[in-house]
Amino acid sequence: RKLRWAFRLGYLSVLGGIALVGYNVYMDRHPEPQVEPDPSKKTLVILGTGWGSISLLKRLDTENYNVVVISPRNYFLFTPLLPSCTTGTVEHRSIMEPVRTILRQKKGRVTFYEAEASSIDPERKVVRIFDTSEIKGSTTETEVPYDMLVIGVGAENATFGIPGVREHSCFLKEIGDAQKIRKRIMDCVETAMFKDQSPEEIDRLLHMVVVGGGPTGVEFAGELQDFFQEDIKKLVPEIADRFRVTLIEALPNVLPMFSRQLIEYTERSFKEEKINIHTKTVVKKVNEKSVEAEVTRPDGTKETIVFPYGLLVWATGNAVRPVVRDLMSKIPAQKNSRRGLAVNEYLVVQGTRDIWAIGDCAVAGYAPTAQVAAQEGTFLARLFNNMAKTEALEEKIRHLSSSLNLEPGNSAEISQEIAELERKLRRIKDVKPFQYSHQGSLAYIGSEKAVADITWFNGNVAAAGSLTFLFWRSAYVSMCFSMRNKLLVINDWLKSKVFGRDLSRE
Ligand code: FAD
Ligand code: NAI
Repeated sequence: RKLRWAFRLGYLSVLGGIALVGYNVYMDRHPEPQVEPDPSKKTLVILGTGWGSISLLKRLDTENYNVVVISPRNYFLFTPLLPSCTTGTVEHRSIMEPVRTILRQKKGRVTFYEAEASSIDPERKVVRIFDTSEIKGSTTETEVPYDMLVIGVGAENATFGIPGVREHSCFLKEIGDAQKIRKRIMDCVETAMFKDQSPEEIDRLLHMVVVGGGPTGVEFAGELQDFFQEDIKKLVPEIADRFRVTLIEALPNVLPMFSRQLIEYTERSFKEEKINIHTKTVVKKVNEKSVEAEVTRPDGTKETIVFPYGLLVWATGNAVRPVVRDLMSKIPAQKNSRRGLAVNEYLVVQGTRDIWAIGDCAVAGYAPTAQVAAQEGTFLARLFNNMAKTEALEEKIRHLSSSLNLEPGNSAEISQEIAELERKLRRIKDVKPFQYSHQGSLAYIGSEKAVADITWFNGNVAAAGSLTFLFWRSAYVSMCFSMRNKLLVINDWLKSKVFGRDLSRE
């Protein structure tokens, strides 16, 4: 009988789960009518549609402001699964969520402009924007005024001015980068198979070089080796012994933000997977078909090595975007800041009024990660919701105070109401400064293995291997933006496992 009850309970929870998913999907497709923007309210301009800005928008009570969002990307990109798109383990549209869908779920209507901000004038409180898309109308450049401005434009790829990087390598930051890499991997394979190709040329074409041993470079190298082992090798057996992946890192080890044991585990695992790691090796120049790097030998001597390559992926971290650099140059208080806009503990850009910065473009003392950007966005949403509530309460108190003179008969009741409102106001105004809560770091390292440094009851737990890989997958699928994203990603994983990855070159 117990078994029958357990079965019924399980059946009911599955039905409940399906009903909940169905309800969410239905509500997403049939949202409530929205409150129209009110011109008497403050204009809040948000730059960017990445981790920081979308987390802010998700929790912001948009009916309290005239919200304007400006970004050249009309979608949110779930970056943690971007390396998986380079090999087709996950399809690129599965990790994109259209901004229009996100904004339609808000109570108050939000204006969206697909454009790039080129400059910010903090004196006149305007943002200059221009259309970066292929199709242009008669107006391609204009200004947007703001009362409050949030800068969440992220960062661009660091090249350190090394010659040839921009011309010859692929980055891994945007969807277009992942598509370009996917296409090039197969192009290298097919070109290596071209009739009468020389052995040296085959070796060059099948040499995939990754520069930067941070999590982007490591995750990409792992995905690439999986692609080769699980699919390319089976379908193009002629290249089985010639395909090589090399990871070049300037520091003495890869993944410097992870604990020692996880670094060693990753390096061991890469060795088993036959991914060559060259540490203490700094790339100095990139040519069309080779990179030149300086390696420091154990005795301290330096030597230049040339790596011929077919595909070169450049993953050496972040640099400040031009719009941010331009704003920094206008603010004397930002003179000493190098890595982005220095902000105070409420994320206000130092030396400005009514400008906040979040995510990779802000320097608040934390690593440039999605986790930090998302928490900063959530913090600002709470702050702005509170500010709107404060203003509404102050207005109500002002109104009641003036009624005190007009209605002396009700003065006791009114005074009590004012006191109650003032208590509420004090509670709302008491917003604590931003504090980041680190949940841990996760990275995929290939061969269905992952490494994780998890924060657990004020301590740290380091884990690695196949179980950690399952944890990595479940953590990221649960973090995907929408139900649609979650289902698509799970479907992609099943598809690539059952049928293999798609080798066609689009
Ligand atoms: P972004 O998410 O980069 O968003 C910036 C937005 O601003 C974009 O919409 C962009 O189009 C827009 N924009 C750019 N220029 C302008 C302009 N001039 N005007 C207006 N808008 C503009 N972090 C983790 O914590 N965990 C991970 O697993 C992880 N994996 C990653 C994997 C990869 C491959 C990469 C590249 C990064 C990964 N990160 C990860 C880091 C994480 O993606 C970033 O820290 C995060 O995206 C920063 O959020 P953001 O909002 O500051 O910027
Ligand atoms: P990174 O800054 O973390 O690593 C870049 C690496 O490139 C550094 O180790 C640096 O020493 C090396 N490098 C720089 N110049 C070089 C040169 N000329 N030659 C050889 N090596 C060189 O950059 P990454 O990996 O792009 O990450 C950026 C941010 O995004 C980081 O904060 C990271 O934590 C976050 N991120 C997190 C992920 C995760 O948690 N799984 C995944 C991807 C990114």
